Amino acid sequence: MTSPIRTERHGEILVISSNNPPVNALGAAVRQGLEAAIKEGVNDASIEAMVIRCDGKTFFAGADITEFGKPFVEPGLPTVVDMIEASDKPVVAAIHGTALGGGCEVALGCHYRVAVPSAKLGTPEVKLGLLPGAGGTQRLPRIAGVQLALELTAKGDPISAKKALDAGLVDKLVGEDSLEADAIAFAREIKAKRPIPRASQKTATADPAAVEAFKKENARRFRGFDAPAANIACIEKATDGSSFEDGIAFERQQFMKLMMGTQSAAQRHLFFAERQAAKIDDVAADVKLRDIRKVGIIGAGTMGGGIAMNFLSAGIPVTIVEMQADALERGTGIIRKNYEATAAKGRMKPEQVEQAMGALTPTLKLEDLADCDLVIEAVYENMDVKKELFGKLDAIVKPGAILASNTSYLDIDEIAASTKRPEDVLGMHFFSPANVMKLLEVVRGEKTALDVLATVMALAKKIRKVAVVAGVTYGFIGNRMLMPRQVEAMKLLMEGATPEQVDKVHVAFGMPMGPFQMSDLAGVDIGWHRDPTRIESIRDALAAENRWGQKTKAGFYDYDDKRNPSPSPRVAEIIEDFRQKSGAPAPRQISDEEIVERTLYPLVNEGALILEEGKAQRASDVDVVWIYGYGWPVYRGGPMFWAQSEGLGKIVDGLEKHGFTPAKSLQDAAASGGKLK
Ligand code: 3HC
Repeated sequence: MTSPIRTERHGEILVISSNNPPVNALGAAVRQGLEAAIKEGVNDASIEAMVIRCDGKTFFAGADITEFGKPFVEPGLPTVVDMIEASDKPVVAAIHGTALGGGCEVALGCHYRVAVPSAKLGTPEVKLGLLPGAGGTQRLPRIAGVQLALELTAKGDPISAKKALDAGLVDKLVGEDSLEADAIAFAREIKAKRPIPRASQKTATADPAAVEAFKKENARRFRGFDAPAANIACIEKATDGSSFEDGIAFERQQFMKLMMGTQSAAQRHLFFAERQAAKIDDVAADVKLRDIRKVGIIGAGTMGGGIAMNFLSAGIPVTIVEMQADALERGTGIIRKNYEATAAKGRMKPEQVEQAMGALTPTLKLEDLADCDLVIEAVYENMDVKKELFGKLDAIVKPGAILASNTSYLDIDEIAASTKRPEDVLGMHFFSPANVMKLLEVVRGEKTALDVLATVMALAKKIRKVAVVAGVTYGFIGNRMLMPRQVEAMKLLMEGATPEQVDKVHVAFGMPMGPFQMSDLAGVDIGWHRDPTRIESIRDALAAENRWGQKTKAGFYDYDDKRNPSPSPRVAEIIEDFRQKSGAPAPRQISDEEIVERTLYPLVNEGALILEEGKAQRASDVDVVWIYGYGWPVYRGGPMFWAQSEGLGKIVDGLEKHGFTPAKSLQDAAASGGKLK
């Protein structure tokens, strides 16, 4: 096999190039090639300096994640980086694209770094539950300072080449289209300079108060995760007077600990799950996509407005339709207000606000959607209303345009049947707030054409959503799995648990909120029959007293003016009263463990049923839905991954213990020790 690394002499400069698509990951062959190339440069008396660069779209984007967990192949990345740094001839990293993780560490091992202005540098290992394990935690603070090292390692977001230049992480910005030539010229300028600057020989100092402040500021973001603290500990080690070697030993020990843990396994699972979700099993990669240049949205309410913002922000013009002028005005006003709020936080320029608003065409006429390439319906959940609307749209919108419904539950096939083009119809289920939440369930109807499905999946990426294909089933993937959880949570109240106790268990598990906090946020009155004399459930009893959730400052909790919740004595009375009237047994002590088993195991079970019925393509897609749509803790990898790591036998036993029937696929996988697919 030919090596992905090649060398080329430009006079006294040796240019070392990597060609390992798609992202020049530092797999074994690359590491071996780099080791050989550096030796070649060091041993060749005619060479005075070296340049390391990459072909393709990016500089090394990190270690090869697919190698993690497999037998180790020499040389390790730390060895290669040390070898680069030890070279007695200066080495220059020539950076374009993204120098990430191990790629950034290779650059840190080099003595100089030049970059094109569009390049980005970062250490995103923390997002994989890891830390830079090739000396990055020790070299980064020595080169770029402690504050930036903390930001880069513990948060994992990359920075621009300009910011890297300002921090001393990059020595020079060079021409966007002349990186190689400029890097060679730079190498010529510095080839004779001595001493050669080596990160390991520098020292870094930290202000302990600043480190503490950083930890405090980010405590919420880091909650539940192991890796941020380990990253910070390594940076602290680089600044506490320890030798570079001791720092490296500490980094290695911390890295291995994280690598063996369940959190990193979960986060690495998610990395691949997210990319896998974009793939549709029966659609060829080269399917011809339809052009989506203009999008129509019906409904300028909270959902329609949020959906519109996704397209406007991506530069795609939107025509938005409402039935009444005041509703249209209110809806467009809210879109503007949202954009202006973003601009006020400095995350958008005022001219970008105007650009987005300029691409929005509000109208009261459905006929104005005639030239749209995609129309998304976001009116209220009523099958008759939707069917009538799709029938009308069919007559108005040009042939070949895609018609989508944002329904959360309803049957897409039935909606599609009200048109003469069911092959052009599918579901696009956005999650509220639609301009913020990353998840998009793309609901594939029985007759949805493959190119329509592929077009919408590609479009989802363009508007920065994580899309998952779902089949037609009540509640699709996410809401269908949510239902048994909510039902069980209510039963637990009847048996003696309090809303606070149930929610606390979910928050401790890592969810952003529990079932009752979620009900209060969404509205306790959702789906209520609106007859205060008809009390058939605890929810009815709450709704009858106007306890509709946060919006009425009372729901399962009491709320103050700032919407801070507190346990409600009145709710305790309502529950007790309802319990007595319905003849339920006396309340009992319920353990936190039982709450987990009874709310989360049935959710997993429903996920398994969805997979058995072919309503989701793969178990990892279900995980993606729960992470991006419901805030399932990333470090637990999603419900199906979590079930697998808990042990499927344990889940099956727990389900049976509480009177549920475990899905056949769960039972089979538990019995065979296999995996959920
Ligand atoms: N290892 C192996 N495969 C990788 C990879 C990596 N580090 N990074 C990306 N890939 C693969 C993806 O899985 C995908 O494969 P597929 O086409 O089969 O699905 C393909 O490369 C393209 O990736 P994207 O779809 O993500 O391409 P984009 O252009 O959207 O993004 C990117 C490119 C910004 C480089 C993005 O892929 C990314 O963020 N990669 C991960 C970077 C990272 O986490 N690096 C740190 C690795 S850990 C490490 O370095 C440890 C060290 O400290 C010892």
